[in-house]
Amino acid sequence: MSTDQAVIEVRGLRKSYPGRSGGRVQALAGLDFVLPPGRSLAIVGESGSGKTTAALCIAKLALADAGQVLLSGADILAAGSRETVALRRQFGVVLQNPLTALDPRVRIWRSVAEPLQVHESDLSAAQLRERALAMLARVGLSEAMAERLPHQLSGGQLQRAVIARALILRPRLVILDEPTSALDVSVQAQVLNLLCDLRDEFRLSYLFITHNLALVEILAHEVLVMYGGAVVERGPVHQVFGAPRHPYTAELLAAVPGQPTLPATDAAPLALPDAGPARQGCAYRPRCAQARPLCAEAVPEAASGERLAACHFPLERPHGASPQ
Ligand SMILES: Nc1ncnc2c1ncn2[C@@H]1O[C@H](COP(=O)(O)OP(=O)(O)O)[C@@H](O)[C@H]1O
Ligand SMILES: [Mg+2]
Repeated sequence: MSTDQAVIEVRGLRKSYPGRSGGRVQALAGLDFVLPPGRSLAIVGESGSGKTTAALCIAKLALADAGQVLLSGADILAAGSRETVALRRQFGVVLQNPLTALDPRVRIWRSVAEPLQVHESDLSAAQLRERALAMLARVGLSEAMAERLPHQLSGGQLQRAVIARALILRPRLVILDEPTSALDVSVQAQVLNLLCDLRDEFRLSYLFITHNLALVEILAHEVLVMYGGAVVERGPVHQVFGAPRHPYTAELLAAVPGQPTLPATDAAPLALPDAGPARQGCAYRPRCAQARPLCAEAVPEAASGERLAACHFPLERPHGASPQ
């Protein structure tokens, strides 16, 4: 698959934050992937592994320290402000908390129409409203809902409005960061179903970020597992889940048998690696049951390729497992 056919290509994306006790926290230690058209990729990892940082840097809502984010071959991170606005057309963004995504003083339909107003400034007010109402209807919100202010909607209704806004310019790509985890359990499935239907209807590619492994198979073809800001494993979902090669992926999958769910975002954080300036050895080593001396000496390189495991001693396929 050549680069310019990809919906998005991310190369060497890095981001650090100021640490609490001085120094820097390396939240993203180098993220690389290519998303071909029509494919969806899930990024998974426990709380603090750098998923939201990745989403924000890719969407250029936070400034990365280094790396490239190529959309139709153009690097949005290197683009000037006008080109950035133009490149933003190519993707929609849905974040975890729908309340903060919408202006509290603006009626729902106007917020949904805003990207149209920016990018298709020749549309009349009536056309803007019509297009917004049509997309709101598609996500299950009536005209009466469209006239309301954000605080007059439920969490699930608000997230539907955010999804409508993300799709109003008909992008090929939607970046979703934990889009259902702030919602009541009873409405999570409805929003997930909606996302599935929209993906198929509009032929969308999702970059779907979640701590909930159970959602990965529903929405994505490929999965990328992050630990401590780095990619530890990547590949087609059925291969990675069926026969994980990285011990961390195996740990995640084993965490809750039959119900592959990672600790919720507000759960007690597991011991993530200290983000030192120059990491020695494998970051996962202190938690790894099968660490050997080499793991303390050299950082395992994640070779490129469809199926990747950044481990010196990747797990063998379990006996009796069918080859995939
Ligand atoms: N604005 C920030 N300032 C300082 N540290 C941050 C900030 N945002 C995230 N971090 C740190 O970066 C790491 C990754 O966080 P985040 O990307 O939110 O992970 P995830 O979404 O996987 O839970 C964590 O150690 C977190 O504490
Ligand atoms: Mg997050």
